[in-house]
Amino acid sequence: MELEQLLLQIVSNDDTHARFLNTLSLQENIGARKISANERPETSTYMVLKHAAEEHRHAFYLKKQIGKLSSTGYPNYEPDYLLAPYSSKYYLNKLDLITSRYLRHQLELSGTALKFAAYLLVTYAIEVRADEIYPIYQDVLNRTGSKVSVRSIILEEQGHLEEMIAQLKNFSEDWEMHAENIVALETTLYKNWINDLALAL
Ligand SMILES: [Fe+2]
Ligand SMILES: [Fe+2]
Repeated sequence: MELEQLLLQIVSNDDTHARFLNTLSLQENIGARKISANERPETSTYMVLKHAAEEHRHAFYLKKQIGKLSSTGYPNYEPDYLLAPYSSKYYLNKLDLITSRYLRHQLELSGTALKFAAYLLVTYAIEVRADEIYPIYQDVLNRTGSKVSVRSIILEEQGHLEEMIAQLKNFSEDWEMHAENIVALETTLYKNWINDLALAL
């Protein structure tokens, strides 16, 4: 199913919409925790602290948006309160795994260097995806007259992509090639996730 079609179906039902917002909130929270988990004294710059703070805000903000819907009672990230819970978590964990495998084989990285490179490339791929999803979602929200808004997230996500590019340029001269390869791997996982969301409706 096309993303736009899927989102139109999701927002047409308040319970489904609430669980979708909670699912996005979870994914933002996982992203925020990933950034914090990869902080090291020499990499904890203004930019990285800002990025972590904004991803945590996105998780909170999406959760808060649920209050604009008529459905209530989504207190936490337990599976019952999510949409395609397994697939939604698996998508990010799996991306981590395949990126680590790629870096081990292509760049022969290991240990802390591998972990940091995986964080850079996974976060980059997620930011590319966020830049695609949120504007389409906002467009659907506008067209359906929803009170929910993700406008404040969109601008910050664009900034994040630029921040990840700045860090990737420091990481490798060939960053673009590696980033393209990871985005290609991510695309398969993303399509599976979209299919699973459609099945959950
Ligand atoms: Fe975000
Ligand atoms: Fe982001």
